[in-house]
Formats: sequence, C-alpha cells, structure tokens
Amino acid sequence: MASVKHVIGAKISASRSRLATMIDRRTLLLSAAASAVTPSAAKMAPPQLTAKEALIQLAPEGYDAATLWCFDGQSPGPEIRVRQGRAVQRRFVNELAQPSTIHWHGIRLQNAMDGVPGLTQPAVAPGEFFEYDFVPPDAGTYWYHSHNRSWEQMARGLYGPLIVDESEAPEIDQDITLVFDDWRLAESGGLAGGYGNLHDNSHAGRLGNIITVNGRISESIRTNAGERLRLRLINTANARIFELGWQNLSAWIVALDGMPLEAPQQTDLVTLAPAQRADLIVDVLVTDEAPLIYMIEDGTGYVLVEIVMGKGGTRTTRSAPLPLPPNPLPELHSEAEAETTTLLMEGGAMGNLSSAVFEGEELSLREMVDHGMVWTMNGVAGLAEDPLFALDRGTSQRLQFINETVFPHGMHLHGHHFREVLSDGSLGPWRDTILVEQNEAREVAMVADNPGKWLLHCHMLGHQAAGMKTWIEVKA
Ligand code: C2O
Ligand code: CU
Repeated sequence: MASVKHVIGAKISASRSRLATMIDRRTLLLSAAASAVTPSAAKMAPPQLTAKEALIQLAPEGYDAATLWCFDGQSPGPEIRVRQGRAVQRRFVNELAQPSTIHWHGIRLQNAMDGVPGLTQPAVAPGEFFEYDFVPPDAGTYWYHSHNRSWEQMARGLYGPLIVDESEAPEIDQDITLVFDDWRLAESGGLAGGYGNLHDNSHAGRLGNIITVNGRISESIRTNAGERLRLRLINTANARIFELGWQNLSAWIVALDGMPLEAPQQTDLVTLAPAQRADLIVDVLVTDEAPLIYMIEDGTGYVLVEIVMGKGGTRTTRSAPLPLPPNPLPELHSEAEAETTTLLMEGGAMGNLSSAVFEGEELSLREMVDHGMVWTMNGVAGLAEDPLFALDRGTSQRLQFINETVFPHGMHLHGHHFREVLSDGSLGPWRDTILVEQNEAREVAMVADNPGKWLLHCHMLGHQAAGMKTWIEVKA
C-alpha cells in the first residue's frame, strides 16, 4: 500500500465520485430493506444497532474492498441524533464472532449504560443483545464505539457519531458531521491484520496508511457563497492526532468535546487527539479559490475535504457567532479546595521502566512484556482491584498527569468532563479527553457528580491495551 501522501490528495480524485456513488447506493439498499419490516411487529422493541461484518471499499478503485466490523453494515455507523433531554434507546445486537459492548463517548450517563466490560456490564456475547437506554444531559457532538478489544474492534470500524441537538439550535444553513479516521490497509486494499501487536502498542499505536472522512478517501461538501455551516469534527482514529486547518473559510470553535465554549474562538487550526471533537461555525468566504479542509503532517498539508461551491449565494458579512446555549455542567471554581492526585505515566519504547505491578504482582519488565504490558500509571499496568481514588459524590478533585514517556497520550475520563487548570490558575474549556504531550505535565479539575465506576485511560487504544488504564469510583 502506498503511503498516506500518495493515497490521499489529488491522485485519488478520479475515483472519488465513483466511490461516493457506490456508498450511496449501498445506503439506499439498506434503508429500503429496513422499511420492509412491518411497523406493528417493531413497535415495542427499541431500534436495533447491530454489530456485524460488511464489505466496504476503503482503498481507491482497483484495490479490493475491506471486510470491516461495523454498526448496521456501515462505517462510520449510522448517525444517532436526539434532542437534548430525550432518550437514546438502542438494542445492541452482536452478530460478530467476538464479544462486544457500546460505549457512548462523552455522555455523562448513568454508570450501568457506560458499556465497559468487566466494570459496568458483562460483554455481550456473539448472538446476544443488550438494551441501552439513557438520556444525554448535554447537547453537543459525541460518538459511540465498541469498548471490548477496542484496539482491534475500532480499527475494524466499530464506531459512529452521536449528536445531541440543542433545544435552541444556532442559526446556520447546514449542519455537517465529519468523522476522521485512518486505516491500515494491506497491499490488496483489505485491512492489514496484526491488531494489538507489541511494536504498535509500545510506540505511537496503530497508525493507518490511508485516511477517510465519513468513510470516504475524500469527502466533499456542497455549499454556496455566504453560507454559515456548523461542522462537527470527530477523531475516531486508534492513535492518530489530527492537525486540521482550512482555507477560504472563516471559522470559530464553538464547542470542544461536546461542551460549548463561553466565547467562540476564531482560529484556522485545530488539533484533535483520538476521541476529541470540535464544533466549528464556519462562514464560507467568497473567493476565486474553493475552500477546503486539510490536515498537516510533517509540515505538509493534505486535502481531506473539498468544498464545492454552488451557483447560488451572495456575499454577506456576518457578525461573529453567539456562544451555544450552556449545558447543565457542575459548578467548578478554580479557587475551590480540592485534593490533587498525581498520575505518573511511564513506559513504552525508549522508556526507562524496569518493573511494575500487574494484577497485584510486582513483575520485571521482561515479565510485563510477556503479559503484553508496557505502560504504567503510578507504577501499575492495567486495572487494579482498587480504584485510583474513591470520592464522595459532589467532591471537587484535581488530577495531574505527568507524562514521562516519549509519546503523547490522549487521556479520557468516563462519565465526567473536566477543565484544565492553566498555568495562571484559571480553568480551560470543559473536555472529556486531554492531550498530554511527551515530557509534559497537565492538570485538570473535575466535580465527581456521577456515581459509579469510571474508566480513566489513554485513547491511543494500543496504549490502553498495554496497560495505560485505571479507574475511579464516585460513591452514591
Ligand atoms: Cu472513547 Cu473508554 O472510551
Ligand atoms: Cu497513550
């Protein structure tokens, strides 16, 4: 397979429209099949979301299609969309040969619906189902994904977007979800195997050799001059950090990880670690050149989304967008009394780990590696019997991540959002995932207001698999 540089960008433009038609046709067939179900038979049961295999063309024309594992036969899975305050109800049916679960990333839901095997529910065995039913308290851009063997199941395609609409939506002309992922393909165009190998797990993780947006090697958006768009960017990659930029668009970040910023922030660049999201409000500027969205890697830009200008539209000058309506987040004050727990992150290739605790036993590095463990937090690899900390409901807590490895880590906490404690003591935006660069320390503050057992892990999924995870408990 060619490198990213060859696969994305201008060289593939010839096959784009054909690929798009193929995918559209597939979607059409699926929805025709779905409507054939007699309405009365389906009345009581919630809608299904089925994990199963499907053959999908990822590589350009001339290569084979890839056998993916996906929700309802498509990757990304179907966009689930509800209004804030309404329930999400899905019967998750597992038609794969491996057990699986669904985690609703970034949703502050009740613990029993969080989808973490062994912590909040047993994994759903092949042929079995599980009913998810929860009310997302917050509006915004979220996503759902498998949480069993995620380094393999997500690399194979098991994820989709979850959008919670504000009861008062901002004034925009189009609302567009853009799901960014990378895939590691073999020469043939099918998925390369080797999920969770020790080399990937001890380095940056499973990086792909092609990039898709909404499952396509190049995505396009149709718009007109003067339109205002809301773009929901979601990074679903196993390990890739996307640095995204744009041209001929005037853009404000209005939300991060689902949560509105107090003041929209005008920018022409956003960094998304795995699992992170950004909502942009974008004004389409009238210029001779068409606008586009690109990624930057090693100082070079690669086009990921083309923006096709229609004939209509006029130049309009608009004022900056208003902030989105706030979500019902807890009060968090920078001056509030809070304990700080330190989380020392060590290990990985070129790390200096010599021993660690795994499943309650002190092991040498050699023995750790035999168990596939190469990363530790506070000297422990993988989940321990006891939580990192247990808090009474409503307690404020600080967490300081100290990254003593030579790799960046996207640290994600389940069931809560947190705010970074900035160097001047003020608090950054609410997030559920924070990127901690190599040899960097970052501190976050949170209110433990959601009872249950919550995972805290690196969203570079190979790192999580190889030890970089722990859990916290919030007492009822
Ligand atoms: Cu999006 Cu524990 O993960
Ligand atoms: Cu990591």
